[in-house]
Amino acid sequence: MENIALLAKWLQDSQSTVVFTGAGMSTEAGLPDFRSKDGLWKKKDPRQLASIDAMKRNPEEFYDFYRMRLHNLGLADPHKGHKILAQWEQRGLIKGIITQNVDGLHHRAGSNNVVELHGTLREAVCIKCQKVYPSDKLLEEKIPQCDCQGKIKPGVILFGERLPVDALEKADTLSRESKLFIVIGSSLEVSPANYFPSLARQMGAKLVIINLEPTMLDYEADLLIKGKAGEVLEQVEKLVK
Ligand code: APR
Repeated sequence: MENIALLAKWLQDSQSTVVFTGAGMSTEAGLPDFRSKDGLWKKKDPRQLASIDAMKRNPEEFYDFYRMRLHNLGLADPHKGHKILAQWEQRGLIKGIITQNVDGLHHRAGSNNVVELHGTLREAVCIKCQKVYPSDKLLEEKIPQCDCQGKIKPGVILFGERLPVDALEKADTLSRESKLFIVIGSSLEVSPANYFPSLARQMGAKLVIINLEPTMLDYEADLLIKGKAGEVLEQVEKLVK
C-alpha cells in the first residue's frame, strides 16, 4: 500500500495518535527553519544568539534577533497543514500536538491540546521576578526592563535553559500513551525534545516521520514520507474517511 494511504489507514485505526512538530511545519507559512540549507542557524551560531549568555554579553544583537523573528511572525499565518491538524483533533483523530515551535501557529489554527516544549514567542518574561509580559514589550525598548529592574527575555527556551517541567510531563504522558506517533518537519537533532519519538516507539507506538530531508531517527521509523508537511497532510486528509 502506498505510504500516504498507509498513513491514512493507520491514523483511522489508531486510538491514540500524537503529532510532534518542528520548524519544518512552519516553513510553508514563510518562517525559516534552523538547519536546512537556508535555515537560521546556517547564518548565525545559535549559541551566539539564542542563549542567556548571549543576552548578557551582546544584548543589542540578541534583542534585534528576536525582534526580527517577532516581525516575521507578524507576517505569518497558519497554513493548510496546521488547519488539518486542528480538524483532526476536533474529529478525535489525534490526541494532541507536541511542538518544538514557538510561533503559536498551531494555536492560531485552532488546535487546543498543544505542548510547547520550547516556550512561545507570544510572551516575554522577566528573568529576575518571572513576571510575564506580552511579547510586544520586546519591541518597546532597546533593552526591555521589568518594573523590578530585571531584564526581560523572550518567552522561548534559550540554549542552556531547562525546558518547562509541565510541558515535559505532558509530552511524556502523551508519548507513552500513543499508539501512533507522527513527526512532522524536524531534524530531531535537539534534545531532550528528540527523546519523545524514541520513547513512543519504545512503548510500542508506530513511528512515522514526514520530512524533506533525512533525520536523526529515520532508522527507528516504521514509515518515512519525504515531502512537504502541508502537501502530505492534505494528501492524507483526502483519504481519511
Ligand atoms: N515540510 C517538511 N519538512 C520540512 C519542510 C517542509 N515544508 N521545511 C523544512 N523541513 C525539514 C528540514 O529539512 C529539516 O530537516 O524540517 C526540518 C527542520 O529541522 P530544524 O531546522 O533542525 O528544526 P527543528 O528540528 O524544529 O529544530 C529543533 O532547534 O534551534 C532549536 O529551539 C530550536 O525548536 C528548535 C530546535
